[in-house]
Amino acid sequence: MANVVLIGTQWGDEGKGKIVDLLTEWAEVVVRFQGGNNAGHTLVIDGQRYALHLIPSGIMRAEKICVIGSGVVVDLNILLQEIDLLQKQCGRNVLSQLILSDEAHLILESHRRLDQAREQQRGVAKIGTTGRGIGPAYESKMARWGLRLGDLLAPEEVLQTRLRNLLDQHNEMLEKIYNEAPVSFDKVLAELKEAAAIVCPAIKKVPYELARHLKKKESILFEGAQGTLLDINHGTYPFVTSSSTLAANACASSGVGVTDIDEVIGVVKAYTTRVGSGPFPVELEDSVGEHLSVRGGEVGTTTGRLRRCGWLDMVALRYATLLNGLSSIALTKLDVLSGLEVIKVCTAYRLRGEIIDYFPSSIEDLEACEPVLEEFGGWQEDISGILDYDLLPENAKKYVTYIENQLGIEAMLVSVGPDREQTMIRHNPFVMSRDNV
Ligand code: GDP
Ligand code: IMO
Ligand code: MG
Repeated sequence: MANVVLIGTQWGDEGKGKIVDLLTEWAEVVVRFQGGNNAGHTLVIDGQRYALHLIPSGIMRAEKICVIGSGVVVDLNILLQEIDLLQKQCGRNVLSQLILSDEAHLILESHRRLDQAREQQRGVAKIGTTGRGIGPAYESKMARWGLRLGDLLAPEEVLQTRLRNLLDQHNEMLEKIYNEAPVSFDKVLAELKEAAAIVCPAIKKVPYELARHLKKKESILFEGAQGTLLDINHGTYPFVTSSSTLAANACASSGVGVTDIDEVIGVVKAYTTRVGSGPFPVELEDSVGEHLSVRGGEVGTTTGRLRRCGWLDMVALRYATLLNGLSSIALTKLDVLSGLEVIKVCTAYRLRGEIIDYFPSSIEDLEACEPVLEEFGGWQEDISGILDYDLLPENAKKYVTYIENQLGIEAMLVSVGPDREQTMIRHNPFVMSRDNV
């Protein structure tokens, strides 16, 4: 038994969904703890592709419990669409596998509209959000005006009062600041009531539910969304998301103690990508960037935007290792580097003539950073069919070892393709937990 937190170490899209789906084989429960449907987690199982935004990536395994914790912001329209789609794709009703926190906040139409209106107003300074209402939903939560899933269980007049209070403010902003049409109270209320009729049985007190599983010595896998550099506190602010994406937040936002966690896995893509605006020191706008983009299929799962691509950034990864207290990494998309003569890695930044080895907090500084690059020999072979780590080309193994040495932790797995099967597990935390080493 082990409780494992898995998070992204870069700017998201590291392949978290694939690894969570794989590792769920050994866990009884999978928990999403932050973010919302700004996430896009892609799984490929026997050649069939599934894209999940809100439902945990453990859902493809029929007997597993999937939890949406209190730190998640929930758009009920998307949740219902996702439940419906999975029903069609898997031929079973996944609702019975879901537990939804009564403390999770709702994303309403007015949050989505405000997100989009604000981005438009920012013009060239836009964050490049996913437009899903994430920022405004967390604003309502922190301002203590938010609606929670638990409000759907309250008497209707309570729900109506809370909704009216929130929409009055949102509509004033939409009309007076952004010159936009207001959102209809009746429409939102009707949608909430319709969704409530379906999801209410799944709404529970998550900390007690998780405590029950912990007591039975069942394993819990916590699935991060976004990535460390999009974290609201330590990321490239203001070009970040509105939640804490770090491993520590898995505990706070789902309601388990930090002492219950055995391992923290950081998912590392073998190169770096970023969607949306913001500084990106290792960005490549040449034929290598094109190679990574095309070979890596770097198109956003949620918005369909092209992801910006660059070399691996060890400054950023060392920062992610310490921020999350990583115990190991899961290295993904190593296959995408096949065919490159030379592979470069950023080991430090040059900031206004000075070499620095830390990740700056100011975006003006980060924008002024140029990468200091170290070169490695590439390999030409297609490695996507290799299932034994020892059979990887020598240069590929050298690359993995270099990353391990730089971060001072092991790659517990190496992934060489999108399919569940295209993975070499070298150390399984659920089989080799602290309890039995
Ligand atoms: P997430 O948001 O971290 O779950 O990552 P995404 O699903 O948004 O993006 C990762 C993409 O890479 C998806 O299309 C995956 O199917 C794909 N993928 C994951 N691991 C690998 C890998 O090792 N090799 C290749 N070629 N693709 C991978
Ligand atoms: P997964 O879980 C990559 C980015 C957006 C934008 C910024 C803020 O698939 O890795 P938001 O809508 O959250 O207010 O947008 O964060 N972003 C992501 N980038 N992967 C994600 O999730 C992301 N979720 C948000 O592109 O730059
Ligand atoms: Mg993604």
